[in-house]
Amino acid sequence: MRRALAIGLLSALAAIGAAADTYPQRPITMVVPFAAGGPTDVVARIVAEPMSRALGQQVVIENVTGAGGTTGITRASQASPDGYTIMMGHMGTHGAAPALFKGLKYDPAKSFDPVGLAAGTPIVIVAKKGFPAQDLKGFIEVLKARGPAINQAHAGVGSVSHSTGVLFNSQTGAKPTLVVYRGTGPALNDLMADQVDFMTDQIVNVAPQIAGGTIKAYAIATAERSPSLPDVPTTKEAGLPGYEVSAWNAVFAPKGLPADVRAKLVAALDTALKDPATTKRILELGGTVPKEAEAGPVALQALVEREVARWTPVLRSAVETNP
Ligand code: MLT
Repeated sequence: MRRALAIGLLSALAAIGAAADTYPQRPITMVVPFAAGGPTDVVARIVAEPMSRALGQQVVIENVTGAGGTTGITRASQASPDGYTIMMGHMGTHGAAPALFKGLKYDPAKSFDPVGLAAGTPIVIVAKKGFPAQDLKGFIEVLKARGPAINQAHAGVGSVSHSTGVLFNSQTGAKPTLVVYRGTGPALNDLMADQVDFMTDQIVNVAPQIAGGTIKAYAIATAERSPSLPDVPTTKEAGLPGYEVSAWNAVFAPKGLPADVRAKLVAALDTALKDPATTKRILELGGTVPKEAEAGPVALQALVEREVARWTPVLRSAVETNP
């Protein structure tokens, strides 16, 4: 009996080992928890291409939308930890969501094997091009004067656009009507069509439209201006120094990956981010490329723990002071 058990165990271990040695043998799904065309999708497609080359199998994007990104992340967190399902999460799904999303079905710090940071994405305050204000101070005055007559777009409770929007409203006293979208890709279309008034969004989504003049930017919420948007003032220059916030996008896998499989995914992302064509695309959209110390699974796990700890009190108090 014991001999049979030992043989069974050894053959199971051999099978896992063999699977890891030959991984990947088929395409890998990268779940993007927002609609195609938005910032999460943009970053996912930028890194999926070189990751496919590094892994020798296609990394296929699957947009699974809803509930501020938590529908897609929940589904990906429950997938088999075999390396064939990964996901693009971010500061919303893996940082802000626990503070705002009731009944979250995953724990950002425990339900995943982090793979690595993909891009930093500064937040920009953008409005429809005809919005009646010339600068951020004037914009805030109009928001406060017109209250719920102003429509603010976001991608669902706990998303980056929602959480950074809640923070903006609590700091300015604005009380707009929130309009939810399945991603800020569709929200941007409505902003360009004057169907919604403003949003706080990740630069990689809105930089081309700001440069093209189809929407306007009042400020970027970083200490320094972005090289890709040199004419957009920082929030400090524009009179709202306390509003400094950047988002980030990162690759995760369901918890429990075999070590070899995880190592291959980490190496593929690392190779992707060392590819000059990849970094060029991230930078020209105003994103930032992870520094050496920010890259890889250990740094990402620490980032998630820091971000959940940071955003939980900030957002809970923001919602209390400005419900
Ligand atoms: C968000 O959190 O606002 C999302 O990143 C929007 C998106 O990617 O569509």
